[in-house]
Amino acid sequence: MEIKAVLNEAVATPDPRLQQLLNHALTGGKGLRPTLVLLCARFGIHDTVEVRQVATAIELIHLASLIHDDVLDGATVRRSLPALHCLYGTVPAVLTGDYLFATAFGLLASSKKAVLTTVTEAIRAMCSGEIQQLTAAVPDTKAYFTYIGQKTAALFSAACRCGGILCRLKRPQQNYLARFGWHLGLAYQIIDDYLDLFGSAQRMGKPNRQDLARGILTLPVLRFLELSPEAARWQEKINRGLTAAEIEELIAAARQLNCDEYTAAIAEEQITLALEALDKLPVSPVQEELALLASRTLDPLQEII
Ligand code: FPP
Ligand code: MG
Repeated sequence: MEIKAVLNEAVATPDPRLQQLLNHALTGGKGLRPTLVLLCARFGIHDTVEVRQVATAIELIHLASLIHDDVLDGATVRRSLPALHCLYGTVPAVLTGDYLFATAFGLLASSKKAVLTTVTEAIRAMCSGEIQQLTAAVPDTKAYFTYIGQKTAALFSAACRCGGILCRLKRPQQNYLARFGWHLGLAYQIIDDYLDLFGSAQRMGKPNRQDLARGILTLPVLRFLELSPEAARWQEKINRGLTAAEIEELIAAARQLNCDEYTAAIAEEQITLALEALDKLPVSPVQEELALLASRTLDPLQEII
């Protein structure tokens, strides 16, 4: 059974109003995290039903976090559709996120304790990362890597580790899978941040230039503030809130200083680190599939540079 089918079956409810919210919440998406669980479990013998359940649970947690994230960010578009809270209101949206979250734990309940520990640790990290992003008014690159690690890479890493646990890999091999997922997740978020600044809204399925407008300083902007002779003036403007024209001006100035190329290079570096971790695992046909998936993460950059 496809993950999408397990997902639909797991969340199904006789309540038509809730079902309507769920249908919207489950529309679209690439299913990257469940794919990681399924692929990583192929390093050994596993119970396919259990693997599918864990993969589905991880996707449900991701979907719940996006619903909550859009409320926190005040975002209006997700996956080229109106954000759930814009269509149905904040309270029903938050509760739908909670419902998905509870459904995820229902699926995890019949899996191994190590899976549960791994996933709960990742969720705690996600919450902490979101708080750090809010409170780090002027983060440096180190703080940026900490919060993107927590909010994004932690769940990628957990997905990969869970695959390894479910096929009974030894702990050091689970650690390599977790490391692969961690670097892949960092690259994924760096690219998301790159596209928010330099990409096209249409391709992304959500409005761009949102991070700066919300005062969130991502890697290309941090690089710009490191290099620009007018950094102090820009920092002041960012603190009081940028106008749309100022955002465009900053983006042009950041391009002049090659902050776009720098950010792309850092994402590529993370993919290299992910592939190095993958190389440490026992030779298996699944390695190639994971390597391909990791390299493809960089594709959106090629479309722009
Ligand atoms: C998207 O980041 C958001 C995340 C990666 C994590 C959000 C996590 C939480 C809200 C806390 C955990 C909550 C639950 C229910 C598990 P972004 O805003 O940079 O990306 P975007 O552009 O796609 O919105
Ligand atoms: Mg967001």
